[in-house]
Amino acid sequence: MGPVMKATGVWKIYPSGESTVQAVKGVDVSIDAGEMVAIMGASGCGKTTLLNILSGIDEPNSGDVHVNGEPLFGISDNKRTRMRAEYLGFIFQDFNLLPVLSAVENVELPLLLLGKSASEARKGALEALQSVGLSQRSEHLPSELSGGQQQRVAVARALVHNPTVILCDEPTGNLDSVTSAEVLELLHKLNRERNTTFLIVTHDAMIAKRCTRTLQMLDGTIVEDRRNEEE
Ligand SMILES: Nc1ncnc2c1ncn2[C@@H]1O[C@H](COP(=O)(O)OP(=O)(O)O)[C@@H](O)[C@H]1O
Ligand SMILES: [Mg+2]
Repeated sequence: MGPVMKATGVWKIYPSGESTVQAVKGVDVSIDAGEMVAIMGASGCGKTTLLNILSGIDEPNSGDVHVNGEPLFGISDNKRTRMRAEYLGFIFQDFNLLPVLSAVENVELPLLLLGKSASEARKGALEALQSVGLSQRSEHLPSELSGGQQQRVAVARALVHNPTVILCDEPTGNLDSVTSAEVLELLHKLNRERNTTFLIVTHDAMIAKRCTRTLQMLDGTIVEDRRNEEE
């Protein structure tokens, strides 16, 4: 079986006034099923830009990304939207829950996007909420939940369609250390129990330590690719 995600020669250059910023400079990386990969590096080194390209949110200036062996770019927007919906899940620093929807309504969105019926989507969303320990909060609005609970809803939304890869940008950046540890445990559990692959941009050395691999970025390139020792 090939890698679940593979980037080849990825460049991203932003215009910046009269000149340009080379945010990602020729990144090659290959990620296998079941890996839990931390992406680390100083602010501004290109972590979010790279993650957004691997997510199909941003298009690279050059280079390719393949997910499950299929190209993510050089295809129609509809095809890319479909691939993202089917293969990928996303967790953001600020949770990105829709404020007018209840927890269960937020979590069922990915299933509705994939064309599941309302009842299938509801059933799947309730199971996902149960797996993150939030069954009792399914009818609550995000504003009625703590930060840690909101991020657990976001985790449920990211896993509800059983994606191949879950991409996370500073998933614990807005959480206190105790809550961060709980969310990290949850990601670990999913990695172990479902073999979900994780790609996690983080400043948090505790998270990186619990990953199977760390990519260290500097000025738009990966300068170190380290396999972590087994726990
Ligand atoms: N939309 C954009 N337009 C112009 N420059 C950008 C844009 N997004 C990011 N950059 C620049 O690209 C570089 C990398 O940014 P980013 O990927 O956000 O870094 P990180 O996530 O590691 O902090 C920075 O110099 C940033 O200012
Ligand atoms: Mg960033």
